[in-house]
Amino acid sequence: MAKAASKTTQLDVFGALLDQAREYAGAYINAAHDQPLNPGAAALARLAEFDIPLPSGPTDASAMLAQLHDIGSPTTLPSTGGRYFGFVNGGAHPPALAAKWLSDIWDQNAAFYVMSPIASKLEDVCERWIVELLGLPKQTVAGFVGGTSTAISVGFVTARNELLARQGWDVAARGLFGAPQIRVVVGEQTHSAVYKALSYIGLGTDRVEIVPADDQGRMITEKLPELDAHTLVVTQAGNVNSGAFDPLDAICDKAQKAGAWVHVDGAFGLWAGASKNKRPLLKGFEKADSWAVDAHKTLNAPYDCGIILCRHPEKLASAMQASGSYLQTTEGERDGMYYVPEMSRRARATELWALLKTMGRSGVEELVDQLCARAESLAEGLKSQGFQIKNDVVFNQVLVACETPEQTRATLENIQQDGEIWCGGATWHDQPVIRASICSWATTQADIERAIVAFCAARERANLI
Ligand SMILES: Cc1ncc(COP(=O)(O)O)c(C=O)c1O
Repeated sequence: MAKAASKTTQLDVFGALLDQAREYAGAYINAAHDQPLNPGAAALARLAEFDIPLPSGPTDASAMLAQLHDIGSPTTLPSTGGRYFGFVNGGAHPPALAAKWLSDIWDQNAAFYVMSPIASKLEDVCERWIVELLGLPKQTVAGFVGGTSTAISVGFVTARNELLARQGWDVAARGLFGAPQIRVVVGEQTHSAVYKALSYIGLGTDRVEIVPADDQGRMITEKLPELDAHTLVVTQAGNVNSGAFDPLDAICDKAQKAGAWVHVDGAFGLWAGASKNKRPLLKGFEKADSWAVDAHKTLNAPYDCGIILCRHPEKLASAMQASGSYLQTTEGERDGMYYVPEMSRRARATELWALLKTMGRSGVEELVDQLCARAESLAEGLKSQGFQIKNDVVFNQVLVACETPEQTRATLENIQQDGEIWCGGATWHDQPVIRASICSWATTQADIERAIVAFCAARERANLI
C-alpha cells in the first residue's frame, strides 16, 4: 500500500517558533528576578543593530526571534520581577499571562459576536464580575480598552454628549461649533491623562474650573464651585504620586443634588473597592456616573487592559455608535465595539477573565492588601533609616525624600544607576521626591528589605559626592 503523503499542518508552521519563543520566555522570567533593573550601556548600545534598512526580502524567522531575545530582552526593564517600583506599573500575573498567550494564538477580533463568540462571552462575564467585585450599580456596563487614558476619554465623551443633549444639542451630529456651554470641574492634582482627554475631545484645557487640593492632593469639597446639570466633575481615586483619594462621598452628593455628571479616574485606586480594609477610601464612589480603571496596574493583568465603566448603558452605547452595511450585530449578544472607540481590537478580556477566575474575590482582596502592606512596610523601614516620607501612605504609593533636595535628586540618580531596584521621581509640593509604587504581586517582604538597603546605599554614595 502506498504511504500517505505527509501533510504540513499549522503546528508545523507555528510549532518550532512557539517552542523557541517559549524557551526564551522561560530564560527571561528566570533572569528577571535577579537581573539589574537598568539595561547598562553595553546592552543599550546593541539597540543600534535594529537600525537597518527595511529588508529587501524575507528574513529567517528563527534568526529574527533570536535577535529579538538577544538584544531585546536585556534592554527591557524587568517589571515582572519584585523590585521594580516605577510609575504605577503592575506586574503580570502568571495565569493571566498564560491565558493571554493562548488568546494570542486565537488572534480574535473582539469587535462583534460573530467574529468571536468567546471574546464576546468573556467581556460579558468580566463586566458582571467587576461590577459585583467593586459593588457598582447593577446596570453598569464596561468597555474594554487599552488603558485608563482611553477609558477617561470614553467617559468624557459620554458625559459631554449627555450634558449637551440636555440642552437640546446633538453633538454627535452637529459637532461642538456653536454648541451650548458645558462646564468641567477638576481637582488641582488631576492626572495629565485628564487634560489630554479634555484637549482631544474638544472640551479644552484652559477653561476648566480648578478645585484647590489639600496637602495630600485631595480636592477640598468646600472649595467646589456651585454645580449644575451642565457640569462634568472629574474626581480621582488614587493620586498618581501620593495615592490619596478625593472625598468622593461628599463630592458625589453635591453633584447628584445639582444633576452634574461625576467621573472617577481610578486608574489604580478603584481596586480598593475589592478590599474590606481599603474600601472606606472610596466611600460614596458608587454614586458617580462613570469610572476609569486599569487592570494592568493594581490587578496585575498583562498590558494593555483598561476598563471604562458607566452606569448609563444606553448613553455609553450611543456615544460609541457606528454603522455600516457590512457590520453584523447579533440580537441578544454583546458586540464589543459599541462600548469602545475602536472597531478591531484584541480579545483583552481573556486575561482579565483568567485573572479573576483564578484569584477569585478573596485573591484580589489579598493582592490589594498585600501591595498596601508592602508599601507601609517600605515607608516604615525607610523612616527608620532617616528618610522622610512625604505622603500619608494610604494605598500603594510612597514618596521619599532625603534631608536636602540635592541629596534626594542624587539618591534617585544612584538608585537608577545601581539597578538593584527601580524608582522614578516627581515634584511634590515644589520639592523633588523619589516615588515608589508597590504594584506587583511578585514583590515579597524580602524585596522590600532589599529596597531599603538599596535606598541607604544610594544615599550614602550621594553623601560622598
Ligand atoms: C490616576 C491616573 N490616571 C490616569 C493614568 C493613565 O493610565 P494609562 O497609563 O493606563 O493610560 C494613570 C497612570 O498611571 C494614573 O495613575
